[in-house]
Amino acid sequence: MPQKWDELWGNSDKIRRWSIPDYHFIDYLMEMENNCNQLKALDMGCGIGRHSEYLAKKGFIVTAVDPSLTAINYLQQKSIDENIPVQIFQGDLTWLKSVEDNSFDLVVSWNVIYHNTLSELEDALKEFYRILVTGGKLLLTLNSTNNIHYGKGIEIERNTFINQKKLDGEHPHHYSDKDEVDRLLTNFKVLCLSEDEEEVGGKLFKDRWHWYIFAQK
Ligand SMILES: C[S@@+](CC[C@H](N)C(=O)[O-])C[C@H]1O[C@@H](n2cnc3c(N)ncnc32)[C@H](O)[C@@H]1O
Repeated sequence: MPQKWDELWGNSDKIRRWSIPDYHFIDYLMEMENNCNQLKALDMGCGIGRHSEYLAKKGFIVTAVDPSLTAINYLQQKSIDENIPVQIFQGDLTWLKSVEDNSFDLVVSWNVIYHNTLSELEDALKEFYRILVTGGKLLLTLNSTNNIHYGKGIEIERNTFINQKKLDGEHPHHYSDKDEVDRLLTNFKVLCLSEDEEEVGGKLFKDRWHWYIFAQK
């Protein structure tokens, strides 16, 4: 799996587009910005680190984790070149097991955990809850069943598809409806939830509906 992500992160056009933080992320984070200095943030599945970098510049103490060596090498070099303090690890969601309870004030996992089956996605959310301090925040995206790619490819379990025709389609994509989103977040207090079409690097991807979530432990 990481090999495919390595290929994707070797593409300069993708790097350019995925360097710009998502506007939902920026909006949601504003709610925390008055008092974020020295808070501990985890960017799980950080990719090339657009959100890690943003958080570090806001004063968070940032840990960034991704299975793709190409992505984390890119972020490592950038953090050295631009003097951005980020602690970087290569790892996937199983890395979370090494983290003690109540370790982070903020967990970000943006366009990551739906690249899994439902049970893996549920496990990730349980881990996020466990490692957050009480009152800690979660910034998360999930894929929506209204997404234009829903139903395309091979359905490996209910609402989870592998679609080789898609750029990142070798990875499973799990799609959630509103009832499932509510169920997945039952342990959290949902502060903001919106369903919007995806925008990456200023380009709107019509009908690629995602859930944008800001929640609290
Ligand atoms: C679409 S990119 C998003 C990157 C970043 N979160 C962002 O918003 O710019 C998805 C990232 O999730 C990572 N990823 C995929 N499966 C993962 C897993 N099981 N655990 C952790 N990260 C994973 C990939 O390596 C890839 O960098």
